[in-house]
Amino acid sequence: MLVLGIESSCDETAAALVEDGRRVLSNVVASQTKTHRAFGGVVPELASREHLGNIGYVVCRAFRDAGKTQDDIDGIAVTRGPGLVGSLLVGVSFAKAMAFSTGKPLVPVNHIEGHIFSAFIENPDIEYPLLALTVSGGHSSLIYSPSPGAYKIIGRTRDDAAGEALDKISKFLGLGYPGGPIIDRLARDGDSRRFAFSIPKISDGRLDFSFSGFKTAALRHIQESGIKPHRGGKVSRIIRDLAASYQQAIVDTLIRQASRAEAQLHPRSMLLVGGVACNSLLRETFRRTFEDELPPRGDAAPVRVYCPSPVYTTDNGAMIAAAGTPKLRARLAMDNVPPPDLTLNADPGLELY
Ligand code: KG4
Ligand code: ZN
Repeated sequence: MLVLGIESSCDETAAALVEDGRRVLSNVVASQTKTHRAFGGVVPELASREHLGNIGYVVCRAFRDAGKTQDDIDGIAVTRGPGLVGSLLVGVSFAKAMAFSTGKPLVPVNHIEGHIFSAFIENPDIEYPLLALTVSGGHSSLIYSPSPGAYKIIGRTRDDAAGEALDKISKFLGLGYPGGPIIDRLARDGDSRRFAFSIPKISDGRLDFSFSGFKTAALRHIQESGIKPHRGGKVSRIIRDLAASYQQAIVDTLIRQASRAEAQLHPRSMLLVGGVACNSLLRETFRRTFEDELPPRGDAAPVRVYCPSPVYTTDNGAMIAAAGTPKLRARLAMDNVPPPDLTLNADPGLELY
């Protein structure tokens, strides 16, 4: 089954052709980083305009790279939400127009479900129940999935997303955008114990995250230590140390809540997905915590850990095609396959159930 996946929820225009949810024939991503860099964050108005300019080329390129035509696909999967409404609308409108002109089925996909499916591309046999730590620029959540297509959010951020927290402090320190990869690189050469960050206690027993306190603490460290924003050249030792300490606090928070969730729910598989899953410290700590250090639980098989390749963790069309494939299969198995739903609309606050 060949599916076209279209993704445009934030600042990446992406399209991919994926066979049976696992064989990626093409995966094209047009990043808007250059456009938003000057502003230190995504400007929604500019993002939607750039999606409009890019989408036609990106989809054509996905077909060309795969050596396929519109006639070859079985359906079109598109991100319906959550995300920026203007950005989402570009992908949804394009997908609807294509479904109308080709008569191919259209399947809406939740962006977060797409991130979860990014792990299945390289490992189609992941076992349920699974627990996914989903960390990106727009979301941070712990999602429990007892069986395919069933989801329960068991923890989420109460303020900033993990990626947003990294991006903001990077902007403040004059390091550039997006901050996540920059902080990741600088932190490798920094002392993570130099600056103290206390992890907030969530007192109502939920497995939520909170990152805004770290931002305030970082600003206090900047003031108290007289740290000046970076102005080019070699990044100072003190900025590297602050980056390392700040990143460590974020990683410790994520791992602590993920560990609590794992102990409560006993999943078979642990997934680390979303743009921040590219972070080297987080990947290493996640693997160590859940693969190497988790004590065996009776006769139960050990938990398996999945951290997709970076090309699939940041926003892309392949994960949307992968998440859309079982939905398309279910639709095509119906006795009377319904025509494409051309009333489909973007939903910026779409929840995952
Ligand atoms: O999943 P994604 O591409 O888009 C959203 O759905 O938000 O994630 C983008 C986020 C940005 O905040 C970026 O700074 C972060 O992922 N990111 C990283 C790394 N690479 C990307 N954060 C930490 N370390 C990285 N290596
Ligand atoms: Zn994302």
